[in-house]
Amino acid sequence: MSLTNRDGFSGKFGVIAAAAGSAVGLGNIWRFPYITGENGGGAFLLIYLLAVVLLGIPVILSEFVIGRKSQANALGAFRKLSPGKPWWLIGLMGIVAAFVILSFYTTVAGWTLEYIVQSITGGFHNKSTTELADDFNNFTASSFRPLLWQLIFMLLTAWIVFAGIQKGIEKYTKILMPLLLIMIIVVCIRSLSLEGSYEGLKFLFKPDFNKITAQTVLLALGQAAFSLSIGMGALITYGSYIRKDTPLIKVSTDVALADTTIAVLSGVMIFPALFALGESPAAGPGLVFITLPKLFESMPAGEFFAVMFFILLAVAALTSTISVLEVVVAYLVEEKNMSRPKATIIGAISISITGVLCTLSFGPLKDFKIFDKTVFDLMNYISANILLTFGALFIVIYCGWILKKQPFFEELKISEKIHPILANILFFLIKYFAPIAIGAIAIGAFFIEGLT
Ligand code: PHE
Repeated sequence: MSLTNRDGFSGKFGVIAAAAGSAVGLGNIWRFPYITGENGGGAFLLIYLLAVVLLGIPVILSEFVIGRKSQANALGAFRKLSPGKPWWLIGLMGIVAAFVILSFYTTVAGWTLEYIVQSITGGFHNKSTTELADDFNNFTASSFRPLLWQLIFMLLTAWIVFAGIQKGIEKYTKILMPLLLIMIIVVCIRSLSLEGSYEGLKFLFKPDFNKITAQTVLLALGQAAFSLSIGMGALITYGSYIRKDTPLIKVSTDVALADTTIAVLSGVMIFPALFALGESPAAGPGLVFITLPKLFESMPAGEFFAVMFFILLAVAALTSTISVLEVVVAYLVEEKNMSRPKATIIGAISISITGVLCTLSFGPLKDFKIFDKTVFDLMNYISANILLTFGALFIVIYCGWILKKQPFFEELKISEKIHPILANILFFLIKYFAPIAIGAIAIGAFFIEGLT
């Protein structure tokens, strides 16, 4: 338990497991490879890595500090730390982001459930890549099954959030995340052993800077924010459950490291296989759902690996969705005085309504477009590149300029010793570098190049 009577994580490992559980998910294994593939590979990866170190870690830390200091939910935290000021709007934006993210995320999470069933029933057997692509397109364009899976996934999420933080979240993540890592490494080895795989590695690791525009930098930044779960208060909420003796800098770097390792390994799993099969890296959201089944088909004991892999992927998605729903639930419980069960039900049902639109935008609603994007694409784009990116921007501005250095480090020093040089570098990143870098990228992408 934490020092107050709020529910809390049991200790350092529990926090790392839960925060890494939030970070590692479809963002790493589904979104990272296809966005990297669409944006030129190596140079995108490099910018992504820079964003994780220079912006991601400072924002993770800032969210943890805000959460633990205030002992409150994403919106309540700002109200408590700056009463009477409008900073709680950052929290409100986070709650909106939670709605937007869960809406489209549960669509894709639902696909993972379908793929568990497909791999158990031998649905990929002896199929060519074209057939697998057709299967994927036919499945996502149908309505009933994708909707059913989405709903089941939302129910699973709500059920765990219902059970409360410590019992619910920690128990699952501690065992299953390391298992996922092992599975990914096994699949990486198979992918690298295919003839022609070297081209894929080159695509992923050899930067070609001609492909970089402000727009791609924004996409890399958005992907980093999405993958690290920053910018919407998920980590503020989790931060409020962290004990006062848990070292926050250590936890932040560990979480960023774990998340980035899984993302890069997912790239190593996908691109060599993709190039070996002669497919295009710019295949979009279907990328991993087409390439991975083909890879499993070519592996000894492939069916077993496929089943295991999609189960673990679904679990990784689940430990992410619970952290998103938790933002909404903690808000409703603490600010609107709802009971936890009621808050969970209301949150899950209202999100499911927009969620259905996202799922249907691969089928009946595929021609319904806003800003030239389907509902799914729009939610996907807005969440990472606008809501989370600006959320992260306001969070660092808040810590650097409103909370200020002394109170910020007071919170950190409760649990760990910090060398003054490290403290200065960290605070420089939070106060000056991160706001200027994120601001400049956003201005470049939206106002100079225009929204694409
Ligand atoms: N980081 C999660 C993933 O990579 C998604 C997520 C985004 C979770 C924002 C919480 C908050 O899948």
